[in-house]
Amino acid sequence: MTHLTIRNAACSAEIHLQGAHVTRWQPHGRDEMLWLSERAVFAPGVSIRGGIPICWPWFGPHPTNPHAKAHGFARTRLWTLDHVSDNVDQTHVRLSLRSDDATRALWPHDFELMLDVVCGATLDVSLTTRNVGAAPFTITEALHTYLAVGDVRQVAVDGLAGVRYADKVRNCEAVQHEALLTFASETDRVYATESECVIIDGERRVRISKRGSYSTVVWNPWVEKAARMPDFGDHEWPGMLCIEAANALDAAVTLAPGAAHTIGARCA
Ligand code: BG6
Repeated sequence: MTHLTIRNAACSAEIHLQGAHVTRWQPHGRDEMLWLSERAVFAPGVSIRGGIPICWPWFGPHPTNPHAKAHGFARTRLWTLDHVSDNVDQTHVRLSLRSDDATRALWPHDFELMLDVVCGATLDVSLTTRNVGAAPFTITEALHTYLAVGDVRQVAVDGLAGVRYADKVRNCEAVQHEALLTFASETDRVYATESECVIIDGERRVRISKRGSYSTVVWNPWVEKAARMPDFGDHEWPGMLCIEAANALDAAVTLAPGAAHTIGARCA
């Protein structure tokens, strides 16, 4: 599948045109920061398991159509490469996706989507949605970032204390009382927050900050859900943790004709 391989003075990275999907980012002198499944499938129309899938224009199941694919269609469409520029230690890549008959059959709105990726010692990803149609529309979305961790059972996430969340495993709403989030079972939560998170992974710290994002999704499938996913190795789940800059549930974004919205995430 068509992809860009990036190497500059600060990092190496890889971006696939299908889904505008960042699959690798490794600052020099550090380990690979993004997790990518050994079983990831690289094929037209199939979402890649790992890296940063773009969930758009709906996050999770379609709100009304149980037959529509989860997380929308942006992650499985072929995007257009609009621009690449380089300075010594940063590479900027811009990709875009526009509505056409196939997208209108799935979602009846006219849009322009733009993904800006800046990779260097940090990785910055921003997704801009513009309504180019005549009627307002509402989206939910996520930059579904799979981060590589040593062992999820040993890591903690700082930044979510006191935050309300929807728990998709227990099917309830709650507030995180613990100062640090730790992991001992399947975790799938949508936190209502704009704040940054820090993954504490032994001596490593991975900081995920956000712009234009009012939800943070935290996901690890654990043993049984990983075993149910054909593109996810049974023993791979301890090595990943998704921290996703999102606008989901109550944070859905409505855009009037001509209006635009940008959601961004930065990993460092
Ligand atoms: C997460 C969701 O963002 O993505 C989970 O909160 C979901 O519920 C996960 O299982 C993976 O989704 P998919 O469609 O890529 O298998």
